[in-house]
Amino acid sequence: MANILLTGASRGIGAAALHALTAAGHHVIGQSTAGGDGLIAADFAQPHAADALWAAARDRAGGRIDVLVNNAGVFEGADLADAAAFDTAWTRSLAINLQSAADLCRHAVLHFQATGPGRIINIASRAGHRGDSPAHWHYAAAKGGMLALTKTIARGYARDGILAFAITPGFTMTGMAEDYLASRGGDKLLADIPLGKVADPEEVAEAIRWLASEAPASLTGATLDINGASYVR
Ligand SMILES: NC(=O)c1ccc[n+]([C@@H]2O[C@H](COP(=O)([O-])OP(=O)(O)OC[C@H]3O[C@@H](n4cnc5c(N)ncnc54)[C@H](OP(=O)(O)O)[C@@H]3O)[C@@H](O)[C@H]2O)c1
Repeated sequence: MANILLTGASRGIGAAALHALTAAGHHVIGQSTAGGDGLIAADFAQPHAADALWAAARDRAGGRIDVLVNNAGVFEGADLADAAAFDTAWTRSLAINLQSAADLCRHAVLHFQATGPGRIINIASRAGHRGDSPAHWHYAAAKGGMLALTKTIARGYARDGILAFAITPGFTMTGMAEDYLASRGGDKLLADIPLGKVADPEEVAEAIRWLASEAPASLTGATLDINGASYVR
């Protein structure tokens, strides 16, 4: 059984991961923006929120965290023609999608170096490889940054027993189907997916569960694509 800090545990992929990891016998310390339902509150748009989360999670875990899963994220569009909105979107996206994950990785690496081996799983996106829509430059850039961050940690700390993995989901049905499809371009998106369906959160959760405990150490530095072959590298 591992003590696992999982961000973005309230809904979508995070809620599915919370369920899968708990069912596998792990002790999951979850986070959401507002907290509640046993989750720790942390708004990653606020400076140092990740630092406070790490401290609270470590206490709740009895002093030892074994696995960090950076899953929380936002996908908010920005109008190129609106300079203020563009600026705000970049600031929010980088703070929530990248900086908070980096801050938690920093704590995790120092913690694992002091207390023993550990694993980091960063939920990036297909967008980090392929880019995203014209309204989401910031999102693709943040997710690409997350991939580079993961590889850097894997290469830098493998000798300390610290393993780092990334997952790059494509479209994953995390809301009501109609709302979700509408927010991602409607039915046309299915034509771009050879499997003919968007991923289920449970499929991504299963990859998180496997990476958290069973994946062999030599896999460190790898990125798992979960996108129905819509982007094959
Ligand atoms: N769904 C997809 O199609 C897709 C595709 C590729 C990658 N991903 C990535 O997969 C991860 C999970 O996505 P999802 O679709 O499951 O997301 P989701 O259903 O929108 O849930 C997002 C999670 O992040 C938390 N969160 C949002 N804003 C936050 C903030 N300011 N501070 C702290 N936590 C915050 C939310 O907490 P609250 O409930 O409290 O707001 C929630 O738990 C994200 O990193 C996303 O970029 C998703």
